[in-house]
Amino acid sequence: MEGSHWVKWIKTTFFLCCFFLFPTVFYFLSSISVHRPVSFINSGNAPNSTFRLRWWIPSVSGDGTPPLALTLPSPPRFIPKKAMSSVERDLARARAAIRRAVSQKGNASSSSTPVTGDEYLNVYRNPAAFFRSYSEMKKRFRVYVYEEGEAPLVHDGPCKNIYTTEGRFIQDLDMMRTIRTRDPSLAHAFFLPFSVSMMVKFIYVPDSHDHSPLHRFISDYLHVVSSNHPFWNRSAGADHFMLSCHDWGPYVSRANSELYNKSIRALCNANTSEGFNPRKDVSIPEIHLLTGEIPVEIRSPPPPNTHRPFLAFFAGGLHGPIRPFLLQQWQDRDPDLRVYQYLPKNSNMSYHSFMHKSKFCLCPSGWEVASPRVVEAIYTECIPVIISEGYVLPFSDVLKWDEFSLTVSVADVPRLKELLSRVTDEEMERLRGGLRAVRRHFVFNQPAKSFDVFHMILHSVWLRRLNVKLP
Ligand SMILES: *[C@@H]1O[C@H](CO)[C@@H](O)[C@H](O)[C@H]1NC(C)=O
Ligand SMILES: *[C@@H]1O[C@H](CO)[C@@H](O)[C@H](O)[C@H]1NC(C)=O
Ligand SMILES: *[C@@H]1O[C@H](CO)[C@@H](O)[C@H](O)[C@H]1NC(C)=O
Ligand SMILES: *[C@@H]1O[C@H](CO)[C@@H](O)[C@H](O)[C@H]1NC(C)=O
Ligand SMILES: *[C@@H]1O[C@H](CO)[C@@H](O)[C@H](O)[C@H]1NC(C)=O
Ligand SMILES: *[C@@H]1O[C@H](CO)[C@@H](O)[C@H](O)[C@H]1NC(C)=O
Repeated sequence: MEGSHWVKWIKTTFFLCCFFLFPTVFYFLSSISVHRPVSFINSGNAPNSTFRLRWWIPSVSGDGTPPLALTLPSPPRFIPKKAMSSVERDLARARAAIRRAVSQKGNASSSSTPVTGDEYLNVYRNPAAFFRSYSEMKKRFRVYVYEEGEAPLVHDGPCKNIYTTEGRFIQDLDMMRTIRTRDPSLAHAFFLPFSVSMMVKFIYVPDSHDHSPLHRFISDYLHVVSSNHPFWNRSAGADHFMLSCHDWGPYVSRANSELYNKSIRALCNANTSEGFNPRKDVSIPEIHLLTGEIPVEIRSPPPPNTHRPFLAFFAGGLHGPIRPFLLQQWQDRDPDLRVYQYLPKNSNMSYHSFMHKSKFCLCPSGWEVASPRVVEAIYTECIPVIISEGYVLPFSDVLKWDEFSLTVSVADVPRLKELLSRVTDEEMERLRGGLRAVRRHFVFNQPAKSFDVFHMILHSVWLRRLNVKLP
């Protein structure tokens, strides 16, 4: 009798432990582990080995408190998992996966990265972090596209001019079957599908210098969206994004202070002097597709040993402050530096054949910091020379631009020839290898393909939404 009493006691205790004590302890431990301290040191050989996470505190109330806590001095030690929505839990899992990838194989020679040769990895700041983050994006990221509004100002955009990136992204996302979700409760980000370029075309009065119709449109649009749905107010716009390639994108987004200060703005005109904030905004490349497709001349990569008799090439209008200086210094000065406002009339060479025949392609800013030249230089493997001020280069949170381009300050323009002549053949070969590797990240496909420009833009938005700066 005594014996069976003990057995019963042990059984009961065991039962209690299994069903109450262990799960509770496990629950608390796992809650804490999700909210571990913000930084840790990875063992990889990335240049800056501090992996920084910034904390996103989901705002549950609509009281307008800024939800994007960019740098909390110390993260909350304990938040019960229950307080997190499934969407936030997804993001926490993705952050943890990226963190693991960085600490385990923060090492470029990791085996699971889908690449063909080691040289290709040089173009990434941290290949393990990027490929993990990208695959987490493909697996988890869901974007809700507001259905409000009609073409041409919303759900449409230019696809056959220098603002093609805007139209193509808006249309491609509208057509996406995988990343786009119709169920906003599953969405990690909300897209505002209006087109600034279309507003300029249809509601701006030419030469009026009056942006107010555009401001009104955006204010009204946000009013509609924030009254019809709870999502904008919930985060003060912080999990929302807009995209514009038009020069005026940055100004027009001032129409709403939350859009400007809190939302993710994906912009071609990524000029830090015009309020571009690299921590929350996304720089996107300007791609000029006059016919909607890449011109035949630059569609396929040039053969490896293309003869490039000219040192450098530029042709373009005297827009903005930098180009007049460049032309004043170099137009008709030196046969090695082909610097023109207009292509020479007596030459049978096209703009793109000049790019194919030059080692370097000069990419000075015009009216806005971005230029479609940069992408055309990438296509023609003519090493881009960025001459700009305050330009945050596209995808620079994952790509190492100095592996496939040069940067020359405006003050050094008079020394351009000297600087470019110093670059050795091996150095140029390395940079061209980088250009071949990044080409896929700057190409639009129909339909969109993995790692193309559409997915790279989405990935940049994903990183902002994760609130993570990759090492
Ligand atoms: C890494 O980044 C942090 C934050 O930007 C900076 O303070 C630190 O100096 C950097 N370390 C190196 C080695 O560059
Ligand atoms: C990277 O991985 C390789 C092979 O696994 C190893 O030999 C090397 O020591 C690692 N480097 C670092 C910095 O961890
Ligand atoms: C969001 O806030 C605005 C302004 O405070 C308000 O007019 C609107 O009704 C709110 N939206 C919702 C869905 O409650
Ligand atoms: C952004 O926030 C700053 C500081 O809160 C404010 O002064 C500024 O007016 C806001 N910008 C816009 C365009 O609303
Ligand atoms: C331009 O003409 C020259 C001869 O005058 C020829 O050698 C060259 O191939 C031509 N270039 C192109 C792009 O047609
Ligand atoms: C960047 O913004 C500043 C401030 O508005 C402006 O002076 C400068 O011209 C802009 N740069 C370009 C290339 O647009």
